[in-house]
Amino acid sequence: METEKKKLFSAVQPSGAVTIGNYIGAIRNFVGLQGEYDCIYAVADLHAITVKQEPAALRRNTLELMALFIACGIDPEKCVLFVQSHVPAHCELTWVLNTITYPGELSRMTQFKDKSAKHADNVNMGLMDYPVLMVSDILLYQAALVPIGADQKQHLELTRDLAVRFNNRYGQTFTVPEPFIPAGSGARVMSLADPSKKMSKSDENPNGFITMSDDKDTIVRKCKRAVTDSGSEVRAAADKPGVTNLMTIYGAFTGKSFEETEREFAGKGYGDFKLAVGEAVADALAPIQAEKARLLKDKAYLDGVMKRGEESARRIAARTLSKVYRKVGFYRGE
Ligand code: TYM
Repeated sequence: METEKKKLFSAVQPSGAVTIGNYIGAIRNFVGLQGEYDCIYAVADLHAITVKQEPAALRRNTLELMALFIACGIDPEKCVLFVQSHVPAHCELTWVLNTITYPGELSRMTQFKDKSAKHADNVNMGLMDYPVLMVSDILLYQAALVPIGADQKQHLELTRDLAVRFNNRYGQTFTVPEPFIPAGSGARVMSLADPSKKMSKSDENPNGFITMSDDKDTIVRKCKRAVTDSGSEVRAAADKPGVTNLMTIYGAFTGKSFEETEREFAGKGYGDFKLAVGEAVADALAPIQAEKARLLKDKAYLDGVMKRGEESARRIAARTLSKVYRKVGFYRGE
């Protein structure tokens, strides 16, 4: 892995079902960028416990997400794939970065405000500090690029701010990363039940999202029920958020542009279109689901991938952490 290529880091939380929003906004690009960069991908279990998790489910979801990464096309021979809690440097760097972060910066984060409202009975320090842990994830690996959906943009801005702040205070230490956010509406896939809301795995209404493991009948049913707009024309437009969202999803799984989709469904109604979207999504997910199921039967292989990933991640992270400890003045012996 010691090449001249720039480094790329991203992660996904194992906090339940992964949606096609996660796939379109992030995971698809994890796959697409692996030739160009030295890629490091993590299962962000430390982040997941900022909201209540059932321990057995968290353990299961961690393994499932690892299998899903590989089934989607992330090559463990080319990339570092690991579990965040296996590398203690993430927590260690978080402590140091906490000392240059102000509470006001964290309390005004949109995601913190949203999650605090949603989990009012569990507004814990971890939830507030979540972005600093994310900053540590990225800076530990000196990542130049971070593929994410639009909802994580604010956390990337904090990452850049803290990298610059640390570098100014202690001397050049961290690479200042750039976000890689899909162009257009793929950066923010919306709920099928309410196209003014982001598609989210934590939505109480399961008709709002399609998961990566939904079967064909479920996917087709959810697409048929998707909220569309007035009129009957399949056309992308600001006043047609429901149809535009479905066109984004259709395009992500078929490679078709908005124009091609408009042409394909000219003169046809929403019904035909929604059915085509459901079938396209289900057909694209079927081989991923089959491969994931196959991988989950080979736990020794998945454990091996994680172990090798952990070793590589620890090696890269240790280098950065040791530099940081030196810069801040921790005595390391003569
Ligand atoms: P998470 O697990 O919530 O989501 C994983 C990725 O999916 C993107 N995403 C979406 N993209 C488009 N449309 C949507 N509806 C949609 N919903 C989610 C997210 O933007 C994200 O890229 N904090 C991160 C995990 C993380 C991380 C990191 C990411 C931890 N450390 C370091 C990058 C770098 C998160 O909660 O992702």
